[in-house]
Amino acid sequence: MFSDLKLYKIPLLYVLLSSIYILLSDKIVGELLNLSTYTFLIHITKALLFTFITGIILYIVIRRDIASLHLSKQALEEKERQLRESEELYRRLIELSPDMILLHQNGNCLFVNKSGARMLGYEDPQELIGNSLFDYIHPDYHEIVQQRIQKMTEESAILDPVEEKIICKDGSVLNVDVAATSIQYNNQSAFMVVIRDITDKKKAEDALRKADTLSIAGSLAAGVAHEIRNPLTVLKGFIQLFNQEDHSHFPYSKIMLSEVDRIETIISDFLMLAKPQHVHFHKNCLQEIVQHTINLFETQAIMKKVQIIPNYERDLPKVECEANQLKQVFINILKNALEAMPDGGDIHVRLWRQDDNHVLIRFSDQGIGIPTEKIEKLGQPFYTTKEKGTGLGLMVSYNIIKNHKGTIQVYSEPGIGTTFDILLPILSHV
Ligand SMILES: Nc1ncnc2c1ncn2[C@@H]1O[C@H](COP(=O)(O)OP(=O)(O)O)[C@@H](O)[C@H]1O
Ligand SMILES: [Mg+2]
Repeated sequence: MFSDLKLYKIPLLYVLLSSIYILLSDKIVGELLNLSTYTFLIHITKALLFTFITGIILYIVIRRDIASLHLSKQALEEKERQLRESEELYRRLIELSPDMILLHQNGNCLFVNKSGARMLGYEDPQELIGNSLFDYIHPDYHEIVQQRIQKMTEESAILDPVEEKIICKDGSVLNVDVAATSIQYNNQSAFMVVIRDITDKKKAEDALRKADTLSIAGSLAAGVAHEIRNPLTVLKGFIQLFNQEDHSHFPYSKIMLSEVDRIETIISDFLMLAKPQHVHFHKNCLQEIVQHTINLFETQAIMKKVQIIPNYERDLPKVECEANQLKQVFINILKNALEAMPDGGDIHVRLWRQDDNHVLIRFSDQGIGIPTEKIEKLGQPFYTTKEKGTGLGLMVSYNIIKNHKGTIQVYSEPGIGTTFDILLPILSHV
């Protein structure tokens, strides 16, 4: 409307003012020069015609300009709308993303989405703003992150995802995949980081790897063990024979014999892996099996100033299991517990019904404990921290419990002690 008003006003004003000027000036000139009425009229008509035509041209030009102005205003509004829409789209994408999306400048957090705050254990993203990223990155990865920031600053490249570890508010550690790029934020260079929690994925992969190694080792065990056992018996026999004939090498042959014994122990552990396929499950009193195992350790415990304290829930149901195999598991765990307590202490053995279908056996020692990052290695073949260890005891135990459709959980605190929780189904063959 405003432009329409202007559209008529300017040419109209021009024509009006020019006409008044022409009439007045021509009147004065006409009188001064004493022109005839005829000549005077021709002058005026010519001048008025010119004014009228230029007025029309002016009108057309203004109209065209205003139309194009109008169009560019519409285009500008459309652009603004598109910008608002795309801004809203990106904002929602960032808020909806299950991954952490974070902006930082030289390691100082400028923005983090809700998922990111939640991943780190915070309610409100604002709690993280202004904090240093390095407060949340595991110390092992500080150097890598510094190098990546340096690389992005120099090359403004998009960096491929790498695996890192981050520390949450409660101190827990998450495995994450981190991708990053440099961006412009508020006219300054900053970095955008996308962080994906892969802790569960890694756990599943580890469990799969462990299960795989267990079954491969199990299937190889029987064959290899038998093959080795025979030549070993021959070796042992000859060493003993040499001993009888010639006593001069006795110290060496004693070592040889003890080493052969060690190989035999390893083979027996290995054979346990293959056995589960041929065992028969029966309903057994778990309390009896546990107590029988504890009795085996009586003398050893006294020598090591360790007290084994049992505590069994009354009236537990019988559990479908292979008694000798479970005994093997309890022996392995109690043996480890004793070996972890060089200065003595207590080992608590508790047995209770966890729910309708499960019983739980808990062994808690006051030993040296296991560092958190090493717990996942338990049960891997040959993982041992002992000079004379085989690293097979727990592997065999995990396999036996797996065959009973049970689970083993380990909780440990270095310097405080370790707890092994064995959860067994009451009926494992249903
Ligand atoms: N109760 C425990 N306390 C501390 N460390 C333990 C305990 N049980 C097991 N471990 C750790 O697990 C490793 C593997 O145990 P295991 O499979 O029985 O093999 P080994 O006893 O021959 O070393 C041990 O070397 C030890 O480091
Ligand atoms: Mg052991």
